[in-house]
Amino acid sequence: MGVAVTHPEGNTPLIVRPALGRWADLEDLLLKHEGHNPTGSFKDRGMTVGVTQAKRIGATAVACASTGNTSASLAAYAAQAGLPALVFVPEGQIALGKLTQSLAYGARTLLVEGDFDACLQLVQESSKALGIYLLNSINPFRLEGQKTIVLEMLQQLGWEVPDWIVLPAGNLGNTAAFGKALLEAQSWGLISRLPRIAAIQAEGASPFAQSFARDFDRLVPMAAHTVATAIKIGAPASYDRAVRAIRATRGVVRSVPDAEILAAKAAIDAAGVGCEPASAATLAGVRRLRAEGVIRPGERVVGILTGHVLKDPGILQTMHQETEPPPSWANRPIRIAPEVAAVRTVLEAALATK
Ligand code: F0G
Repeated sequence: MGVAVTHPEGNTPLIVRPALGRWADLEDLLLKHEGHNPTGSFKDRGMTVGVTQAKRIGATAVACASTGNTSASLAAYAAQAGLPALVFVPEGQIALGKLTQSLAYGARTLLVEGDFDACLQLVQESSKALGIYLLNSINPFRLEGQKTIVLEMLQQLGWEVPDWIVLPAGNLGNTAAFGKALLEAQSWGLISRLPRIAAIQAEGASPFAQSFARDFDRLVPMAAHTVATAIKIGAPASYDRAVRAIRATRGVVRSVPDAEILAAKAAIDAAGVGCEPASAATLAGVRRLRAEGVIRPGERVVGILTGHVLKDPGILQTMHQETEPPPSWANRPIRIAPEVAAVRTVLEAALATK
């Protein structure tokens, strides 16, 4: 047995911001911010386990397909382990912070002509043909690591079970891992009841939500479109396991339009917390489920923020500097002459609107 490949990761905060509770019309809202992991997303929790396993079995190279965060994480852990990494990403469809992380950490970064679903198929075929160790979330070691989000959160709450856990859903690895973690925690006697899982998708990438609405009859893949590029996935790989997680926890699946995702992101950012667009689907989903009455007023909800605000600087430029007419949240930079008088004007306007 070699030594674990770890940064380390985890120990992410549970954040309370009354302004965000008010935004979602819910008193008891906690946000677990997984963007506080070393590469800025929850993926590090699975990657430490996955890359440790790759080392243990003597893998000569590792690979994944990604919408950007898995690839950033794999690149970092492979660098630490001294393993060559190949990452397959859809060309032009991943956020700048993620693409540049993968370059910085030294992974061979393959820009594939096609969407994430095409990348996943190509990496699976290539791994089989070329003997590369595959580190997508279909790798069971990845999901074992991601379970720690739930276990750590329960520990932070003194093993008092919240009523809901709300998370964004794309390829469905995390939804599957959450279900497994909760069932195991119950069978080990750590908790006596299960929280309900609410998985939130973007409307333009919602095959799981659509299947849920049909009582999970089957998965109908779709061509995915959303500003939340992390969850721009039309044929989720962990569908079956995620269905089990939702059923076992009496969970629900919803989709929210991009406009609601961006409004939620603007609220999270303006609260000084910040997150990437996919993460904001969590808060948009909480608000929607409150409006529907599915989440009831006094219930305790833990929302998962999956990635850091700096992952996607492009969307911030669009939101704040480029969209015309400026949305309510737009915070335009102010060009000034290098004079105190100009600063005074800005200060007075700021104090007047406070
Ligand atoms: N939030 C973020 C920030 C993500 O990067 C992802 C997935 C999800 C939510 C959804 O999690 O796929 O387990 O349902 N990102 C993967 C990637 C697909 O390649 O980085 P999921």
